[in-house]
Amino acid sequence: MIRLGELSIRTLDDLDARGSRVLVRVDFNSPVNDAGMLMDDSRIRAHLQTIRELLERDNAVVLMSHQGRPGGRDFVSLRQHAKVLSAYLGQEVKFIDDVMGPYARDSIKSLRPGEAAMLENVRFASEELVEAPLRQQANTYLVRYLSPLFQYYVNDAFATAHRSEPSVVGFPAVLPSAAGRLMEREVAALAKVLDRSLSPKVFVLGGARVADTIKVIENLVRNRLADRILTGGLVGELFTVAKGIMLSTSSMEALERSGALALLPRARRLLMMGAPIEVPVDYKVLEGEEVREEPMGRVSGLIMDVGGGTVDAYSSMVEEAKLVVLRGPMGVVEDPRFREGTEAMIRAAMDCKGYAILGGGHVAAMSGLEPGTSDAKVHISTGAAAFLAFLSGEGLPALEALAGGGRA
Ligand code: 3PG
Repeated sequence: MIRLGELSIRTLDDLDARGSRVLVRVDFNSPVNDAGMLMDDSRIRAHLQTIRELLERDNAVVLMSHQGRPGGRDFVSLRQHAKVLSAYLGQEVKFIDDVMGPYARDSIKSLRPGEAAMLENVRFASEELVEAPLRQQANTYLVRYLSPLFQYYVNDAFATAHRSEPSVVGFPAVLPSAAGRLMEREVAALAKVLDRSLSPKVFVLGGARVADTIKVIENLVRNRLADRILTGGLVGELFTVAKGIMLSTSSMEALERSGALALLPRARRLLMMGAPIEVPVDYKVLEGEEVREEPMGRVSGLIMDVGGGTVDAYSSMVEEAKLVVLRGPMGVVEDPRFREGTEAMIRAAMDCKGYAILGGGHVAAMSGLEPGTSDAKVHISTGAAAFLAFLSGEGLPALEALAGGGRA
């Protein structure tokens, strides 16, 4: 059993799944290239422990995932995912070219103990695209057709935990359910954010998702969860402006284009409330082809990263923390000239005296560790939007369903 705030969630240790048929919600949603080919299989690897454990217990394991959404280039079949998974597991993962029709149901029924199969992209079924409350999702055709074929449901898809889709919340309403091992590690990391005994807590928040990050900061302040909030990226620029410090014309224009300036009143309100928000003391800027560092208050180029003075100041604040949460890059990391600030903050977080949680695609990829990794010092989250939703204080429907639903 694992706890998160008020929620108690069963894990694989609490599920007597042996020689049974188990439906496992994974999140294999991965980047694909123009030809629709998988470019990164780290999300598949992140679920291996759960799948192996269930297979070793002689269960027939059926995997369910989405990939992209209709209209997107990445809305493709999961056939290649099944192949990649087969190679990692060293056993065939039968690909079922159907989600819930008679072929899918017959294929599921014919699976033997210790065998694995992967259903087609669950978003090929239109019901999966509708978010609705758990009770409604439990009544969908997807859940009504498939749930009688299984004894257990396991949710290992933390990156989808913010979605109230049938595959996420419908099955745990009707089947004995538990979190898989990846989900368990993610929840254990989130629980540290709520743990009052871990202090000081330092949040390093950057990136370009400014509206989402303001929500996160408002929640951290409201619930007194942060001792310090160190800002970077567009978030840092917004708070710099909120403090009444002018940026260069090009940076102000970029901030305006991103829509972030509309959030200025909320940023100012947070500062006036005395929120423990720090802003960069210097920036790395680009002007023409020239890259240089400029102190805050005298910025003339386009801001691309935080400067060396900021990295030093932020690193010393991170060093003593009992918990560091790092989300979103400090600069424009797509350009190798502006990765330094983010790289330095990742190193500082991983070297801090306490525990580090790294979230968001860029930061996780730059950490050099596998998404989903958890050890005594660090956790690399597989969730981007789900991680943000949690930090914003929004409930995660997947976890609420696992905690409340099911008949176990
Ligand atoms: C993600 O990649 O963040 C998850 O797989 C959720 O994807 P979605 O935003 O399409 O629901």
